Amino acid sequence: MSLGKLPLHVKLVDVGPRDGLQNEKSPVPAAVKIELVHRLQDAGLTEIEVTSFVSPKWVPQMADNAEVMAGIGRKPGVRYSVLTPNMQGLAAALALPQGFWPHEIVVFGAASEAFSQRNINCSIAESMERFRPVVAAAREKGIYVRGAISCTVGCPYEGDIAPERVELVARLMKDIGVQHVGVADTIGVGTPLKVQRAMDAALRHYDLGDVSGHFHDTYGQALANTLACLEMGVWQFDTSVAGLGGCPYAKGATGNVATEDVVYLLHGMGIDTGIDLDKLIDAGQFISDFLGRKSNSRAALALLNQRTN
Ligand code: HMG
Ligand code: MG
Repeated sequence: MSLGKLPLHVKLVDVGPRDGLQNEKSPVPAAVKIELVHRLQDAGLTEIEVTSFVSPKWVPQMADNAEVMAGIGRKPGVRYSVLTPNMQGLAAALALPQGFWPHEIVVFGAASEAFSQRNINCSIAESMERFRPVVAAAREKGIYVRGAISCTVGCPYEGDIAPERVELVARLMKDIGVQHVGVADTIGVGTPLKVQRAMDAALRHYDLGDVSGHFHDTYGQALANTLACLEMGVWQFDTSVAGLGGCPYAKGATGNVATEDVVYLLHGMGIDTGIDLDKLIDAGQFISDFLGRKSNSRAALALLNQRTN
């Protein structure tokens, strides 16, 4: 079996506190979100997507964004990111004292017009005009800017999405100064070759070091899709502890691929992540216990089972 140009080290961004919890119907207290972030950084995660500065009417679960950002005991070497869809979101993130600012902001667009309308209430073209000043203002302050491209293989409203749509959005993001793009399979319908084509489309405008994969696991394909991108040399992925999550505007879509499962895969292949899988499993158990659910991570369940035997 040829495994192409596999990376030696992979960087994982745990999006559990944001993507994972944004869809929870019952309020999760800020203290629990903060504790989750602390446990993730103690487990060796160096990139954590903490919250989003979006409308609390649209996503009530993220209404405590400022409280969460201000409550984190920051660990040196860890980078904290937040979603900011417009100038109002960026202003709110920067209204905190500078020590609580995010290292990175995320503007989030889509390769599907219908999803763009449902998720952020504007067209793709309008979204770029909203993002342009956000990107400029963040970069001016030395804050790194990532762009998320949703629905890069399939959309809950439009069905299949052609790679050309991904290429277009990647080009538009590049034009407005977005430094890194995340290729997202929002509803988890992708399979390896489709995801590789979407990634390839983003790579027409971004270097290998400036792209990441963000795969929801609705159809159980996210690990396969991760491996397919690893084979392309992609070394950055968003994952969610305990496989938490879903998007309020993508009905039925489940969480991101579980961080524990990706760490198990990578370590099993001799690829370094800097993450302590045991501590990560404890972090996943903490939030799963709080939510009163079993973890969505198969690796975590298997290893927890071994602990009790
Ligand atoms: P809008 O209604 O078009 O905005 O929403 P507006 O400028 O017309 O303002 C309307 C109201 O929203 C006003 O309040 C504003 O103050 C308020 P009102 O006067 O009615 O009381 N508002 C805000 N409040 C707080 N923070 C803000 C903000 N902006 C406006 N930043 C907006 C546009 C984008 C804000 C809205 O559509 C929204 O919040 N959408 C939420 C989208 C979201 O969070 N989706 C989930 C995250 S994306 C995702 O999960 C996908 C990803 O994981 C990748 C993948 O898997 O695909 C990233
Ligand atoms: Mg997502």
